[in-house]
Amino acid sequence: MKLTKLVVASHNDDKVAEIKTLLAPLHIEVHSAKELRLGDVEETGKTFEENAKIKAGTLSLMCGLPCLADDSGLCIDALDGRPGVYSARYAPNRDFKEGAQMLLKEMDESGKKSRKAHFSCCMALACPNEKIKVYEGRVDGQIAVAPRGEKGFGYDPIFIPDGYEQTFAELGEDVKNQISHRRRALEKFIREIKD
Ligand code: IMP
Repeated sequence: MKLTKLVVASHNDDKVAEIKTLLAPLHIEVHSAKELRLGDVEETGKTFEENAKIKAGTLSLMCGLPCLADDSGLCIDALDGRPGVYSARYAPNRDFKEGAQMLLKEMDESGKKSRKAHFSCCMALACPNEKIKVYEGRVDGQIAVAPRGEKGFGYDPIFIPDGYEQTFAELGEDVKNQISHRRRALEKFIREIKD
């Protein structure tokens, strides 16, 4: 597959920045939907894959360019996988500090001991007149007892990836970008582009 230009179908600046960093070695011209002033697409799907496909497919039709969309979220075992696809909407007014506190409270109230969780990411690539392709990645870990760290975004302060004792928000972007769900999904995408 020969890609020279790619639109990242997201209005989340933090995610776009992470994706741009991860794609930098490919020397592809990467723009975000926001930079191109393309509207936001409503996430009406019930799974990460459905939402990623909806976002990539709709934006590719709008701009006629290859579009890569990411749908991701935090799935907590003690909460039967929630907030999952609703991770962004779970936090009131996208206040993720508040959202994290609400999740910790819900976990306490669940009475379950498990703190196991994972971040999931589904990337969808839509190229004009081609079937949409999907690439998935996940990172397993534990939910911290209280938020820690200032780096990253979203639920990073409460997620401790397996093999580490610090949260993503303490570890920072260099470590996170080596092991994250987004990195793992993008690795599959990059492998295909390179092949
Ligand atoms: P969406 O994919 O735009 O629906 O948003 C997914 C939401 O999941 C984000 O707004 C974050 O709250 C959360 N999320 C996804 N990936 C990460 C991550 O790498 N760190 C922290 N939170 C994340």
